[in-house]
Amino acid sequence: MKKNKTYSILFSLFVMSLSINSTVAFAQTTVQKSTTTKEITKSKLTEILEKNRTAYTKGKVADYIPELGKMDAKAIAFSVVTEKGKVISVGDTNKKFTIQSISKLIALMVAVNEKGEKNVFDKMGYYGTDKPFNHFANLESGKPLNPLMNAGAILTTSLIEGEGEVGFQKILKMIRYITKNDLIDYSKSVYESEKETGHRNRGMFYIMKNSGLIEANDEEKLNNYFKQCSIEVTAEDLAKIGYFFAHQCTRFDGDTTYKNSEISTLVQSQMLIAGMYEYSGEYARRVGLPSKSGVGGGITVAVPNKMGIGVFNPSLDTHGNSVAGYQMILDLVNEYHLNLFE
Ligand code: DON
Repeated sequence: MKKNKTYSILFSLFVMSLSINSTVAFAQTTVQKSTTTKEITKSKLTEILEKNRTAYTKGKVADYIPELGKMDAKAIAFSVVTEKGKVISVGDTNKKFTIQSISKLIALMVAVNEKGEKNVFDKMGYYGTDKPFNHFANLESGKPLNPLMNAGAILTTSLIEGEGEVGFQKILKMIRYITKNDLIDYSKSVYESEKETGHRNRGMFYIMKNSGLIEANDEEKLNNYFKQCSIEVTAEDLAKIGYFFAHQCTRFDGDTTYKNSEISTLVQSQMLIAGMYEYSGEYARRVGLPSKSGVGGGITVAVPNKMGIGVFNPSLDTHGNSVAGYQMILDLVNEYHLNLFE
């Protein structure tokens, strides 16, 4: 009897040790999975792009800014800046499109660099949203929800110091720096089109002026917002922007002039909770990476401490996010296990 009990204790200990070992083995596999990324190849990017080439049929090119409606719905590009700063691009790599809301990341960076995070966020929230990007949410009785919806973005740009066009020039200069591309400029025709038809944005601007959040005597600060949205970029430029925020504001070639982990943490956290507007929650569930879209059809993605991704196709879903762009990101994320929460 006693002998039997001893055997049974020994057997239980053996089973326990097996289960502990398998837990350790499981933990090791998990750690390995999240720290190693297979090498990204041009042929894999091409394969993903080709798979999603016709996804544009499921969306619609934005035309609430009339000039945007002229974009070729079939134009498509996909770009990655790898962990080591190597740029890989496929598709219509030279195709330019307007950066639109993705410029809000750079405006936020410039404003926080100048004023400090506290002074900027005294005037707006860190909230996510269930509302579209151009919603007046909270404005009548309070402050903009966050710096990535239009209201908060218009306010952010207005906080950048300088008369007239100076605020816009600072944003342009920063985009040229991050992409190392001095040829980047804004499209006059898109700017004029935005200015002519941006009645909702003008409404937000005046409500915030009325409540004292915006101090301005004329519409120059609003015009700076319209101009920053009209800056023309390529998918490759967007991948470099994603890389920059993924690497504590270090440029893809290793330049550390603006290195600042506080800013990159702030910007990426806002991208995660509001970068895709009311779709941000579901997007975080599926892609699990800080991302920012623009109605020009671009999306930039930061894979923290790893890479930057830039996609482009101007056909948008009902939230204002590129349909094919989203699908390409999702396919890449699944292929290379990039989801932060996987
Ligand atoms: O102010 C606007 O409506 C546009 N210039 C920018 C909106 C935008 O890009 C929303 N993003 N998906």
